Amino acid sequence: MMKTLTVYFSYTAGNTKRIAEKVHKAVGGDIVRLEPVTPYPADYDATVKQGQEEVNRDYKPELKPLGVDVADYDRIIVGTPTWWYKMAPIVLSFLSNNDFTGKVIVPFMTNAGWPGSIIEDMTKLAERKGATVQHAHAFRFSSNEKHFDRMETSEKELEQWINSLK
Ligand SMILES: Cc1cc2nc3c(=O)[nH]c(=O)nc-3n(C[C@H](O)[C@H](O)[C@H](O)COP(=O)(O)O)c2cc1C
Repeated sequence: MMKTLTVYFSYTAGNTKRIAEKVHKAVGGDIVRLEPVTPYPADYDATVKQGQEEVNRDYKPELKPLGVDVADYDRIIVGTPTWWYKMAPIVLSFLSNNDFTGKVIVPFMTNAGWPGSIIEDMTKLAERKGATVQHAHAFRFSSNEKHFDRMETSEKELEQWINSLK
């Protein structure tokens, strides 16, 4: 039987976390939140600024231990929010640090309307690390700071994506 690991990073409104948890519930396996050793500031604007600086230099923060061995899984679903048109730095660390030879990677991302090149970037990096990439998907949320958690992609589209992974 195929074993699936879901990993994600989430900061702003729990958007990426909610999708990761939903897909994990549907497909089973294990779920892990990617955490940098040094957490981001609680202050949103400070994190936005720090995030820009990190993304601009392709910074790969040190990951806290995952508590699982990536080698044990056949398929890894990887979720990231958009940070300055790129995947979040800690997700760049995860994809860069591991060998995915023979594995399937399913990248997904959340954004607030400016998705940048994340799907392409994650796909290229995962393939360079030996993975076959399937079912990559983008989910759009509100750019209104009062409703960052409002999904603008339809629930039906989310359900269909989840069903494609069962
Ligand atoms: C540092 C930072 C940079 C961001 N840059 C972008 C961006 O370039 N494009 C975009 O659409 N949204 C951007 N956002 C918004 C988030 O990607 C969006 O709200 C996402 O759904 C948040 O997911 P989360 O709640 O799982 O953290 C940014 C947010 C932060 C904190």
